[in-house]
Amino acid sequence: MTTKMTISSIKKSKGVRPLVMITAYDALFSSLFAGNCDIILVGDSLNMSFAGKSDTLSATLEQMIYHTNAVCMGAKNTFVICDMPFGTYTDKDKALTNAIQVFQETPADCIKIEGGKEKAEIVKHLCSNGIAVCGHIGLLPQSVRSEGGYKVKGKNEQEQIQLLKDAKAIEEAGAFCMVIEGVKAEVATQIANSVNIPVIGIGAGAGVDGQVLVFSDMLGLFEAFTPKFVKKYINGASLVKNAIKEYSNEVATREFPQEIHTY
Ligand code: KIV
Repeated sequence: MTTKMTISSIKKSKGVRPLVMITAYDALFSSLFAGNCDIILVGDSLNMSFAGKSDTLSATLEQMIYHTNAVCMGAKNTFVICDMPFGTYTDKDKALTNAIQVFQETPADCIKIEGGKEKAEIVKHLCSNGIAVCGHIGLLPQSVRSEGGYKVKGKNEQEQIQLLKDAKAIEEAGAFCMVIEGVKAEVATQIANSVNIPVIGIGAGAGVDGQVLVFSDMLGLFEAFTPKFVKKYINGASLVKNAIKEYSNEVATREFPQEIHTY
């Protein structure tokens, strides 16, 4: 993927080809991912897999800005989304002030906010003030404490109707795409078919307009737990641990460094 995606090309991809999105939190990994994905999400999931916290809620705007800048440095030719952390978009004015700070202090292409119909006014306000918005509906990790856990959505008719309303409200408010997380596949597919903007799934089946995974999950680096929807493309944790073990043994036995590593 050599040409950087734009809001327009992302929207036009709907019905043409699935979008590839992955998270990254630093320049090293974003530079490795850039050539093979359309969009990099600086997700507030970094609070768990990078900072070791038990949920995303304590990520701060300053941290998101720091990591977004790092990701953008490593992936200058890739479309980058900065996730707005918990508590930074509780009303229209707060959301705009904080989103402007992200746009002024990073080269991020857009921001992402969690929520459905209840966030539509905020999305509309951001869009009408020059902030491109990616929505996020379904399972909302920032609601984990109020919901008492991570709950798959779309399991009954009431939830299905609500999700459809959420998707339509976010689209009408001006979002150019949305993430749909932890939703029954047939419901996610129905939602993707009901809106005109790309719907990018995580734990939402194959019938949507693209996929996103948290990089530390799909590289097998995050060991605390593995959600059902994650495919581990490599067992990164074992690879890293084995390499460190080998290094440790070689230092202990003076096998490393050798002549070729010596000035
Ligand atoms: O924070 C994150 O990484 C996300 C993905 C789960 C979509 O929002």
